[in-house]
Amino acid sequence: MAWREWIGTVEVEPSLYAADFARLGAQIDELLGAGCRVFHFDVGDGHFVEPITIGPVVLASIAPLVHQAGGVLDCHLMVDNPLRHFPQIARAGGDSATFHYEVVDDVAGTIAAAREHGLQVGVAFNPESEPVDVASAAADADLVLCMSIHPGYSGQKFMPDAVDRIRRLRAALPERVNVQVDGGIDHETIGAAHAAGANLLVAGSAIFGGEDLPDAYRSLVQAVT
Ligand code: DX5
Ligand code: ZN
Repeated sequence: MAWREWIGTVEVEPSLYAADFARLGAQIDELLGAGCRVFHFDVGDGHFVEPITIGPVVLASIAPLVHQAGGVLDCHLMVDNPLRHFPQIARAGGDSATFHYEVVDDVAGTIAAAREHGLQVGVAFNPESEPVDVASAAADADLVLCMSIHPGYSGQKFMPDAVDRIRRLRAALPERVNVQVDGGIDHETIGAAHAAGANLLVAGSAIFGGEDLPDAYRSLVQAVT
């Protein structure tokens, strides 16, 4: 399925980084059964962020399961050198690649490089970066990701000032560019993030932290639709 078929709508994206990796396929199946078609996949290189997370090997093993069900894999590259990773992400079955504003000098050139690999493209930014600067550099992207935590780990608390950063980002971006939020999204925070203008809402521990994944996914969807 082309990303275009879902982009622009409101999506809750389970962050697979928070999954139980001994049961990864089964947990993806459960979420597919609940109607989920967009999965967030966090690649961390141990440099841009402290932990080494998951990468192309894991991506390649889950891509057939997700794609056969008509789903997509939205890859968040928390890495120093995104250009080096685009080919591997595309080959492993990633549908999009979101790189960090903080690590590139040429945002437009990096967006173009990702597109050459057939990827949809996102630009992410950390809490210290200025949303309006990011918006003007990333106007050609498919999505801009406003981090509502310092990237690296699941299970951190949502930073309340992210609401205002989302609002300023949304106002500064062309309408066709999607706004994504990532970090600490749960029942308490999803409404404010959505109301401020985020239409792609990533949730890790709020979905994988409990026993009933489909129920957790559905109730977050319900909160924003
Ligand atoms: C961490 C990742 C997030 C993380 C979100 O930096 O980018 O996607 O898995 O997890 P929660 O929703 O628990 O903050
Ligand atoms: Zn992420």
